[in-house]
Amino acid sequence: MKRVQVAIIGAGPSGLLLGHILDRAGIETIILENRSADYVLARVRAGLLEQGTTDLLRETGLGQRLDRDGLVHHGLSLAFDGELHRIDLTASSGKTVTIYGQTEVTHDLMDARAASGAPTIYEAQNVTPHNFDGASPRVTYVKDGVTHEIACDFIAGCDGFHGVSRQSVPQAALTTYERVYPFGWLGILAEVPPADHELVYANSPRGFALCTMRSNTRSRYYVQCPIGDKVEDWSDQRFWDEVRRRVDPQTAEKITTGPSFEKSIAPLRSFVAEPLRFGRLFLVGDAAHIVPPTGAKGLNLAVSDVRYLSEGIIGHYAEKSDDGLDRYSDRALNRIWKAVRFSWWMTTMLHRFPDATPFDQKIQEADLAYLVASQAAMTSLSENYVGLPH
Ligand code: APR
Ligand code: PHB
Repeated sequence: MKRVQVAIIGAGPSGLLLGHILDRAGIETIILENRSADYVLARVRAGLLEQGTTDLLRETGLGQRLDRDGLVHHGLSLAFDGELHRIDLTASSGKTVTIYGQTEVTHDLMDARAASGAPTIYEAQNVTPHNFDGASPRVTYVKDGVTHEIACDFIAGCDGFHGVSRQSVPQAALTTYERVYPFGWLGILAEVPPADHELVYANSPRGFALCTMRSNTRSRYYVQCPIGDKVEDWSDQRFWDEVRRRVDPQTAEKITTGPSFEKSIAPLRSFVAEPLRFGRLFLVGDAAHIVPPTGAKGLNLAVSDVRYLSEGIIGHYAEKSDDGLDRYSDRALNRIWKAVRFSWWMTTMLHRFPDATPFDQKIQEADLAYLVASQAAMTSLSENYVGLPH
C-alpha cells in the first residue's frame, strides 16, 4: 500500500493544477487518470482565460509559454441587427482576458508534473475512492491487471462530469441543479487568420455564432445548431456560409475561410452539485459544475476551485488549520453560482430558443439594446467576463 497526503483523481486541468500547486508546497500527491496522456492532450476545449487564471498560472511558474503565445484582449464585440458593438472590458473593469488554448494549459501542466517527478498514473482503470467519510481514506485502481491501493489524508475528485468521484457520494448527501439547453454548439478549428483581433459574439435570427481564435493564424468558430445534428450534416462550406449569415456584414467581409482540421458538436448545460465536500473527499471543476461555454467560464471555474482547495490543504499541513478546508465548499460555490448565472444570462441573451414566444424575443432584443446603450450594463458584463474577485 502506497501512502501519499493527497490522492487526486483525474489529470485534466483541475487535477494537474492542484497537483502542481501542492507539489510546490512540498505536499505529496499522486494523480490517477483512466486515459492516456495523449488522449487527455488531444481533447479540444475552450481557450479564454480570466485575469485571475493567468495570474495564478504565472504565480506558480507556468507563465513562460502563456506570456509568449497568449493573446491578451481588452475587449469583445457583440453583433446583432446587422451591427457590431464593442465592449471595452479593460476600460470597464481594469482587467484583461487572454486567449490561450486549454490544450496548451494542459501541456504546460503535464510538462511541469513530469519535471517535478511527482507520480501520475495514466490508464489507471477502475479508480475507486473508499472510506472518505472516515479518518483513513484510500483509493484503489487497476494498472496492467494489478490492483493497487493508495492510503491518503484527502481525496480530490478532479475527474470531470462523468467521473467516479461524484458518483461515489451517497445520493442523499448530494443536491444537484441542472438546466439543459435545447441546442448545441458546432465548433471548428482552421488554419486561417481570425476575422477580428477580438472575439465576436453574434445573435441572429438564424441563431448564435462566435468568432474566436487560438493564434493569429489559427481560428476557432462556433455556430448554434439543433440538438440532434451530426457533424456529418455540416460540410465546411455549409458551416462558413452559416457563420457569414449570422454575423454583421462588416465581420462577414473579414472572414477568411479554409478547410477545418477539427469539427465537433457539444451539448449545452448548466449543472451544479452541492456541497463540494464529503468528509475527506472534495469535488473540483467539472466533477462539481458544468456551464455552457457562452461565458467562457468552464476552465476558469475549475482553476478557481483549485485556488480555494489548495489554500485549504496547504493551511491544513502548514498552519495546522482546517479553516480553509471547512470553508472550501461555501467559498467555491459562492463564486460558482455567480459564474453559472452569468453563463446562463449570456446563453439566454445570445441564442435563439426553438420554443421562444414573441414576448421572449422582445425581451431578448431589449436586453441587447439596453446592454450596448448602458455603461452600467457593459461594466456588469465586463467584470463578470474578466472574472469576479476570489
Ligand atoms: N478515473 C480516473 N480518471 C477519470 C475518471 C475515472 N473514473 N473519469 C474521468 N477521468 C479523467 C478524465 O479522463 C479527464 O482527463 O478526469 C479528467 C477530468 O478532466 P476534465 O473533464 O477536463 O475536468 P476538469 O479538470 O475539471 O477541467 C474542467 O475542462 O471540460 C473542460 O470546460 C471544462 O474547461 C473546463 C475544464
Ligand atoms: C474559445 O476560444 O474556444 C471560446 C472563447 C469564448 C467562449 C467560448 C469559447 O465564450
